Amino acid sequence: MTAIHIVVLAAGKGTRMKSDLPKVLHHVGGAPMLDYVLRAGFSLEPASATVVVGHMAENVRASVGSAWPLLKTVVQEPQLGTAHAVMQTEPVLAGQTGTVVLLYGDVPLLRAETVRKLRDHHESKGASLTVLTASVENPKGYGRIVRDASGQVERIVEERDASEAQRAITEINSGIYAFVLENLFNTLKQIKTTNAQGEYYLTDLVEIYRSQGRRVEALPIDDPNELLGVNSREELARMNAILRDQRNRQIMASGVTLVDPATTWIGPDVEIGQDTVIQPNVYLEGRTKIGRNCEILAGVRIIDSTLADQVLIQNYTIIRNSTVASGAILGPFTHIRPDSQIDAGAHVGNFVELKKTRLGAGSKANHLAYLGDATIGEGVNVGAGVITCNYDGLRKHPTIIEDGAFVGTDSQLVAPVRIGKDSYIAAGSSITEDVPPGALAISRGRQVNKEGWAAKKKAMQAAERARLAESKKG
Ligand code: UD1
Ligand code: CA
Repeated sequence: MTAIHIVVLAAGKGTRMKSDLPKVLHHVGGAPMLDYVLRAGFSLEPASATVVVGHMAENVRASVGSAWPLLKTVVQEPQLGTAHAVMQTEPVLAGQTGTVVLLYGDVPLLRAETVRKLRDHHESKGASLTVLTASVENPKGYGRIVRDASGQVERIVEERDASEAQRAITEINSGIYAFVLENLFNTLKQIKTTNAQGEYYLTDLVEIYRSQGRRVEALPIDDPNELLGVNSREELARMNAILRDQRNRQIMASGVTLVDPATTWIGPDVEIGQDTVIQPNVYLEGRTKIGRNCEILAGVRIIDSTLADQVLIQNYTIIRNSTVASGAILGPFTHIRPDSQIDAGAHVGNFVELKKTRLGAGSKANHLAYLGDATIGEGVNVGAGVITCNYDGLRKHPTIIEDGAFVGTDSQLVAPVRIGKDSYIAAGSSITEDVPPGALAISRGRQVNKEGWAAKKKAMQAAERARLAESKKG
């Protein structure tokens, strides 16, 4: 098979976005739009992939580079048109052979399947250039596909250079092509800037190839939505909604219930097991994996986390970078911070925050607690208001709570500290020393009851009131 070289144009300024962020790094459906384009491109298993960046090249490189180790970036500065942009890839592609597939960084809906069709059509026809086209109701702003009497593509005319008759053509240039790599750069160098915008137009390749008697193909696609670009925040929002709906349809087709798909946001890398039910206003992001038969209630946000089967996440819980084993119940209003692990059947309740903490199987922390840098065994009961004092202003210290321990309400565990197996901590204790297994630790002021104190107090207050009334009269 012919080697594929992906080139993505992403040097445009994106002026209408009015943003400090390069346009292609704006998120749609939970990921930078450039990600979608690269995903479609990489589905061809390319030999190389190059993004042409201009505006804030470093940001683009930093954002996408790590996900695609093969990826190279080249800088186009200044931006003198689409042909000029492709020319910048010469240092990367010179001396190689194969097919170049050209994509746009701001056209995220293009499907991998369409890119494959483009490649297959191009190669099976032995074309020098194949362009993806679509027929649209409103072709305004796009280049038009001009065909000759035999139906072959003759040239592509930009809107601004088009005659009245050419403007009436509704078959538009997607700007997405496959080219033969051999001789591409030599041909690009023949392109002139004699057009309305004074730019190097990549579309001029069509006429040049035709004049050389080389084959130029056009491949019309059915759904012009795949070619939608993003130029403004409004279009960004529209794209977001389209992607969300697409993604949610996919998720539902795989056997997951989405109670309200219009308010459910599921990132492209998220996996969800069959028969899981997701209530409204849920955000599942990053590399999140959710098992089967889970229930995620309204308002939950889960980022880069793994949930096993049969997990219940109640309303308004946030989980980041953590794992939850099967049968666990979290929420409502639980905050699970990075590097936490909740083992099978454990319960974490309202206003409980975990950070870098393991909560063992069947253990419970049901109300108002902060557990940080803690390793908690199995069958532990963490009472309401328990706080690990894990930070001394300089360093974080560990707390270890062994299996079966019972930590009474409103206790502070001043780390580093170890609470022994099956021990008890009396409510309201400040624990600063290790507690031996099986012991009761109690650390608080002893209670004193003063009999009859309230009646004496009331009598004193009544006498005081009477004196005040006397002094006013006088
Ligand atoms: C181009 C096509 C037009 C097609 C349209 C589809 C040309 C001359 N025209 O229009 O026929 O209908 O795309 O959207 O090719 N870019 C660079 N460097 C540049 C210029 C552009 O990297 O110097 C990138 C942009 O970031 C964008 C893409 O190329 O991703 C297309 O640029 P844009 O200006 O949107 O397209 P047009 O030139 O208007
Ligand atoms: Ca332009």
